[in-house]
Amino acid sequence: MNRRQFIRRLEVLTGGAAALSAGGCLPFQFANVTVAGRRLLVRAGDIGVRGALLDPPGGQLPIFVFRLPDGGYSAVSTRCMHRGCPVEPTADRLVCPCHGSEYTYAGDVLKGPTERPLRRFAATAESDVVAIELPADLEGW
Ligand code: FES
Repeated sequence: MNRRQFIRRLEVLTGGAAALSAGGCLPFQFANVTVAGRRLLVRAGDIGVRGALLDPPGGQLPIFVFRLPDGGYSAVSTRCMHRGCPVEPTADRLVCPCHGSEYTYAGDVLKGPTERPLRRFAATAESDVVAIELPADLEGW
């Protein structure tokens, strides 16, 4: 599944109340981002209480950003560390549709077959803006 298919799938999954009542995917939105060098900048108000997806440059899979209970932020790749399928946000975790791996919003493994956490990015809040640091090897993941 490529990025475009992933986005279309999210749009389908987030389009109906049936998904919500079934405990499925919630309406996660893509937040607007500004690219500043190796940083993605997003307004904190655009992240929302359930988190948001960010579209990094270069056509890579989205980044999921989430506000932690302590007021900090978590940012993880949506590329599953088992075999690379895009994970999908649900009400309380990120789920891989390919083989069933599950992760916390912070990327920790809840259920295999994956054995590795999602790739994490440093995320810091400065005033009303959250900055996500992109790795130098962004093209490689
Ligand atoms: S690719 Fe995600 S569980 Fe296999």
